[in-house]
Amino acid sequence: MDFDNSTIRYNERLEVKNYLPEMGKDQLAEKIWYGLQSTPKSIPSMFFYDTEGSKIYERITELPEYYPPQVEKSLIPFAADALAQHLVGSDVIELGSGDCSKISIFLDHVPTETLQGLRYIPVDFSLSAIVDSAYCLQSRYSDIDIMGVVGDFLSHLSFLPNDKRKLFIFFGSTIGNLERHDALSFCEQLAQSMSPDDLFLMGFDMVKDRDVLNKAYNDGEGVTAEFNRNIINVVNSLLGTDLDPMAFEHVAFFNESESRIEMHLKALNDLVTITSDGKRLQIEEGEMIHTENSYKFTLDGMKDMVEDSGLMLERVFSDDKGWFSLGIFRKKR
Ligand code: AVJ
Repeated sequence: MDFDNSTIRYNERLEVKNYLPEMGKDQLAEKIWYGLQSTPKSIPSMFFYDTEGSKIYERITELPEYYPPQVEKSLIPFAADALAQHLVGSDVIELGSGDCSKISIFLDHVPTETLQGLRYIPVDFSLSAIVDSAYCLQSRYSDIDIMGVVGDFLSHLSFLPNDKRKLFIFFGSTIGNLERHDALSFCEQLAQSMSPDDLFLMGFDMVKDRDVLNKAYNDGEGVTAEFNRNIINVVNSLLGTDLDPMAFEHVAFFNESESRIEMHLKALNDLVTITSDGKRLQIEEGEMIHTENSYKFTLDGMKDMVEDSGLMLERVFSDDKGWFSLGIFRKKR
């Protein structure tokens, strides 16, 4: 038996490989500082998801105004039915897997005989998310083999197993958080790691009535505002600053020409704070810190993007209103 100290075996049917060298606190602090001293100021949206932020995000997914998870979940059974044949003896690789709620819906619609030969490979930044989700799945499907991969799905695609037919899954319209250029290069890299008979299932949020979009990111309970402001706590803990989250107003709107929701934090008054290594940060009243972009797609826009990167859209499932889509893609021949 070969021994690899980056692999932890949890039980007979679950092992996790870690490809992510702990990103040091210094590197993270540097990344945040870089955005805060730029003009205009920005904070990378990855910093939303500390323990508290992940909890608040869970609450967002339960809001009536925040339609994407509900609509995507309603589409998953149709995609699973369409993929049943393909899945026999395959690996299912879920990128940015998070919790087990979406993949459970998917697996619920896979025939039991097919489940027995299936290997599930969740890829996520967070080891604890992978392990929690794996235990959740093992309690529901005792027959499934799980090989978790802790890593960044942008740079660790080449580390994934390549000995069986594969289905890649990318739920949640997370593709919408990438800038055009990064989304393209993600699709290119994925195309490169796909064999001709592999498939790729991806969820993407659609352009729609601006009121619906604006409400989804400005919910009545203020949960999204809380989520946005929580990023200030993350800044404080990484930089040693003492910014008050309540000194910022949550701003979110659909930018039509860029086809994206933008989130910002607007300073309610002049703010000055000092980092733990003595750097001075000044924010003026009314100044905006850009915290997130969430791109919305049209079917044609999505087709063009993936075509440019070596993939093609084979089938698409959308709800009646056309609010959200799940596409099945394959490698362009
Ligand atoms: C998790 C990136 C899909 O862009 O809609 C929700 C994050 N931000 N409300 C999105 C989010 C504000 C969400 N994604």
